[in-house]
Amino acid sequence: MTIKTAPSILSADFARLGHEIEAVEKAGADVIHVDVMDGHFVPNITIGPPVVAKIRPITKLPLDCHLMIENPERYIGAFAKAGADWISVHVEACDLSQLLPAIKALGCKAGCVINPPTPVEKILPYLPLADYVLVMTVNPGFGGQKLIEGCIDKIAAIHSIAKERNIRIPIEADGGIGPANVSRVTAAGAEIIVAGSAVFEAEDYTKAIEALRK
Ligand code: DX5
Ligand code: ZN
Repeated sequence: MTIKTAPSILSADFARLGHEIEAVEKAGADVIHVDVMDGHFVPNITIGPPVVAKIRPITKLPLDCHLMIENPERYIGAFAKAGADWISVHVEACDLSQLLPAIKALGCKAGCVINPPTPVEKILPYLPLADYVLVMTVNPGFGGQKLIEGCIDKIAAIHSIAKERNIRIPIEADGGIGPANVSRVTAAGAEIIVAGSAVFEAEDYTKAIEALRK
């Protein structure tokens, strides 16, 4: 299995955002993870479509917009227009049976996201509609948190159920992942690794990204 790395710009230096994105692309990142927070669905506020539109021409990498917002149906069009390639929405925030096809209709890859306290059963009906599933390994809202161990079992459960049902769906894992625990996350079946602090707080982005692939 080839592991993809998706640095989360939440931990980048926002004053130098364009340079930070160029630096992680050069360092070997596969995807740019963009954490969108509204201060309602999560207790933090980050960035929206105007910032996505400005970073779009900076990189060739896919922009993976993770919407941690209420009423995501109101905003998917704006993110697609701004240049998002992947858009993921939370099972806790919307009706995925509506939103996943709507995201695909906008020409983007559609991801479904599950929070740590939500049981795996809640997301299973939507796997056939999604292009990827994002398993949160921390409670969303902030970078730099500690991975919640039980979430690794959720990755393994989703991986094995999808296999049983013959659904080929990549699993993305997000939160608290670094060189010390990444091998357990990938062993459970995650193929796309989001990492904010483990990349942007490192001295050397290339080494930090390599360490996540090992
Ligand atoms: C948390 C975000 C994550 C976060 C990851 O709400 O969805 O993408 O930025 O940051 P680290 O890797 O520092 O946990
Ligand atoms: Zn995220």
